[in-house]
Amino acid sequence: MPSAPDFPLLCPVCRSSLRPGADGARTLVCGAGHSFDAAKQGYFNFLVGKGTAFEADTAEMVAARFDFLSAGHYRPLAEAVAELAAPALAGAGEGRPAVLDAGTGTGHYLRALLDRFAPGRLGSNSTESERVEGGGVRPERSGPETVPLAAIGLDISKFALRRAARMNPEALNVVGDVWQPLPVADNAVDAVTVIFAPRNAPEFARVLRPGGRLVVVTPRPGHLAEIAVQTGMLGIEPAKDERLAASLGGHFAPVVARDLDLALALGPRDVTRLAFMGPAGHHLDPSALAALEAALPPSTSVSARFRISVFAPTA
Ligand SMILES: C[S@@+](CC[C@H](N)C(=O)[O-])C[C@H]1O[C@@H](n2cnc3c(N)ncnc32)[C@H](O)[C@@H]1O
Ligand SMILES: [Zn+2]
Repeated sequence: MPSAPDFPLLCPVCRSSLRPGADGARTLVCGAGHSFDAAKQGYFNFLVGKGTAFEADTAEMVAARFDFLSAGHYRPLAEAVAELAAPALAGAGEGRPAVLDAGTGTGHYLRALLDRFAPGRLGSNSTESERVEGGGVRPERSGPETVPLAAIGLDISKFALRRAARMNPEALNVVGDVWQPLPVADNAVDAVTVIFAPRNAPEFARVLRPGGRLVVVTPRPGHLAEIAVQTGMLGIEPAKDERLAASLGGHFAPVVARDLDLALALGPRDVTRLAFMGPAGHHLDPSALAALEAALPPSTSVSARFRISVFAPTA
């Protein structure tokens, strides 16, 4: 948990500013006296009132996602997202650069971004090819990307947030609904990242500073096609570019997009985790998946096909 929020947070009840309470980072209070205590795992629950109807990811779905992502299969995606979000954060004005990860899940992708900006790491271009001949690495250098990020991870699933709070203790982890007004002041963040999660375009545009960037990851046609039928993941349509642009409805203009294809070789357990961790997990039968797992070969070739799209607010 951050020692104090670095960005202007808004009370989810009355929309006035939230500040750390008398016991420091474990309580947030607003001027009207609304008070929010951190859960013992360190996240805050900002869901108030009835909110919108939703089907939050279950503990089992979240565990499947955590285990699959921890195995590193989507690591190149996390690195690509961090790379594409970095310029908006490195180009932030005064103060710490700030990011909102909407639908943060277990916090996996936010972790990569926090690491990229962690003090003491190599700068933004520290790829393998920059390693010095003979096995060393270039000396550490300081630069805009060595300023630690201020970060909020928001998700509607408290099971996800428990994991995210452990994964990213330096971030503010908030249970909240992306379809409600976000608990963040206007023009307060430099980047919003949305990885396979819902997009509230007007709210993302409101919280982004001018010059900030929205980074969205969507699946492309053929994503996980090899296992879609066996695992019951059929029917989850890849987002079409036009549909993505339409969903951002007049609030954002495309800046750049990068396609990333990963050829995965997955063991049986990771195939079923992959099926269970996504939206299909809401209706998949765990016993059928266990039977499938027993029948799968030791390794299955699976193509993951992503598009990472970067948008700028239009107004
Ligand atoms: C497919 S998961 C992706 C999670 C994470 N970004 C990742 O890629 O590992 C979608 C996430 O969106 C969250 N989510 C769904 N509806 C939401 C809402 N209305 N507000 C906030 N989060 C939501 C889910 O709980 C889930 O963690
Ligand atoms: Zn309040």
